[in-house]
Amino acid sequence: MNTKNYREVLGHFATGVTIVMAEIAGDIHGMTANSFTSVSLEPPLILVAVDHKARMLQGISRNRPMTISILKDTQKALSQLFADPNPSRDPFEGLHLERAQNGIPYLADALAFLAVRITDVYSQGDHDLAICQAEELKTLSHDGPLLFFQGRYYAVDGSTP
Ligand SMILES: Cc1cc2nc3c(=O)[nH]c(=O)nc-3n(C[C@H](O)[C@H](O)[C@H](O)COP(=O)(O)O)c2cc1C
Repeated sequence: MNTKNYREVLGHFATGVTIVMAEIAGDIHGMTANSFTSVSLEPPLILVAVDHKARMLQGISRNRPMTISILKDTQKALSQLFADPNPSRDPFEGLHLERAQNGIPYLADALAFLAVRITDVYSQGDHDLAICQAEELKTLSHDGPLLFFQGRYYAVDGSTP
């Protein structure tokens, strides 16, 4: 087992793609994340794993608010922009944002969004696991999701957006 085949094997687990937003030093920061997963129904808990090297880590601590926007299959470019440590343009430029009740924006034209508050943070290996309680959530569209599988983007019908 090595890092390469660890990634290769785990890449067989297809996921959706989200943009996580949080406030860092007064600015809103966004990061592409596919580690988003549901944890508990009652209370409604989800988790996001954030790399210790990510700038987003500065937004991860107890009681901090965040939003999670679940991307549709036409939003691959947004996933790439918010995953780029040195994007060629401001990734927020031209976005249709709305503000959740917790004050953090979300993508108004995503598939769905959750506004959450971080309840616990566990540092594990090279990531922090942010356990978050959902405080507000909404389905925004019934379009198809953006999928991530073996390092590539797909739509549900198998086509590549
Ligand atoms: C599809 C996809 C999913 C990703 N999921 C995560 C994730 O769950 N956690 C994470 O820390 N980085 C994830 N990344 C990498 C970050 O988006 C990327 O490293 C980003 O530049 C880090 O954000 P920063 O601007 O906060 O440093 C993912 C990237 C892609 C393309």
